[in-house]
Amino acid sequence: MIPYQIIEKKSRGQQLSHSEISDFILAYTDGSIPDYQMSALLMAIFIKGMSTEETLSLTKVMLESGEQMDFSSAPGFVADKHSTGGVGDKVSILLAPILAVLDIHIPMISGRGLGHSGGTLDKLESIPGFDVNLDLDDWKEMVIKEHVGLIGQTGNICPADKKIYALRDVTATVRSIPLISASIMSKKIAEGIQGLVLDVKTGNGAFMQTPAESRALANSLVSIGKGYGIKTTALITDMNQPLGSAIGNWFEMEESVRGLQGDGPADLMEVTYALGAEILRMSNPNLSEAAAIELQSKTVADGSAFEKLKRITELQGGDPGVLDDLSQYPKAKYSQTLTATESGYLSHVDTMALGFAGIQIGAGRRKITDAIDYSSGMYMHARIGDNLGRGDDIITVYSNDEKALEEVMAKGEEYFSINQSPPEIPPLILERIE
Ligand code: URA
Repeated sequence: MIPYQIIEKKSRGQQLSHSEISDFILAYTDGSIPDYQMSALLMAIFIKGMSTEETLSLTKVMLESGEQMDFSSAPGFVADKHSTGGVGDKVSILLAPILAVLDIHIPMISGRGLGHSGGTLDKLESIPGFDVNLDLDDWKEMVIKEHVGLIGQTGNICPADKKIYALRDVTATVRSIPLISASIMSKKIAEGIQGLVLDVKTGNGAFMQTPAESRALANSLVSIGKGYGIKTTALITDMNQPLGSAIGNWFEMEESVRGLQGDGPADLMEVTYALGAEILRMSNPNLSEAAAIELQSKTVADGSAFEKLKRITELQGGDPGVLDDLSQYPKAKYSQTLTATESGYLSHVDTMALGFAGIQIGAGRRKITDAIDYSSGMYMHARIGDNLGRGDDIITVYSNDEKALEEVMAKGEEYFSINQSPPEIPPLILERIE
């Protein structure tokens, strides 16, 4: 195999064979192809796309590059939920314990922040001591016994994706339907699940910004899942503003805890329950959507879902005490609030810019080795459509880096638009793809 010829073929928009994809990807994974050639192929795929067969080949090669889990001994339905990424999206942290209480087994493998979008692993690690690098056998045992375990992609699960994902993050090749599809689905199939619901974000804080692009991604993901015999559905949900009010790792953990204590923002709870209902109805097709939502809200009302989150935390080495007493958590040294300079309706939020502002104040990474400041984050006081008076609070930004905070606040007004007429409020759940 001559890497140059494969890059050249894809750059002309021609279809690669399974063996060309397999040889190239496996040689990159074992180090015999350098980053610069893989980057060139990724950019050619990004620009020229891939056919359905090529995407399936890429998924298969990435899946088979590592270990695949077997949960056939689990005494119940084994399922997972995955989001394509956005700002303030903390649904997994609520949904994993809720579904575990309802007897669904959730072997959840999550990611870190990617580009402007946050990652579940970083949020979980904001809990002191929380270990997302469990040994795979310990994790499997936890999933069987506790119905849930929350880990990151270890070296053994889709190592090809792990290496390629890191390269895509720094070569602006994330926003590609075949690359996202193969990356997400190889990891999900490796989990050994029977059911999967995908939260495909759409809007200015998502990788796919228009409903048409998001629909194409959702269709691609769902068809790969089904091809592997996994019951798969997708909801296309809005990302034209952050989900909930909190952005940033510990801020989002706090909001998740409040959600599990019955005090979560309406949009966050609606998306959580809608995604959860998909999985509950895969496990029991006789259940109505309303009944599936009711079952989930009961686990919040009776405290069992919150107890489950504390149990997960304890078993994964974290301190459940901070979840019981949120005020214990160290606060950022500096904070500033942006207020409305005129009265009117909040009509637009530049969600992606808020995600990047989060990186600037220390809530995300500029490069892979950066440490995250878990106390940095933001809190939105307004949502699109709110009628604001002059001087009303829009967002408060918290950081331990005073200079970065000043820089973000100096651009603050660019992130929001206020209009005199009420805007169209984007629907929260746009579509269901089956
Ligand atoms: N999440 C993934 O796991 N991979 C992508 O490519 C994008 C989001």
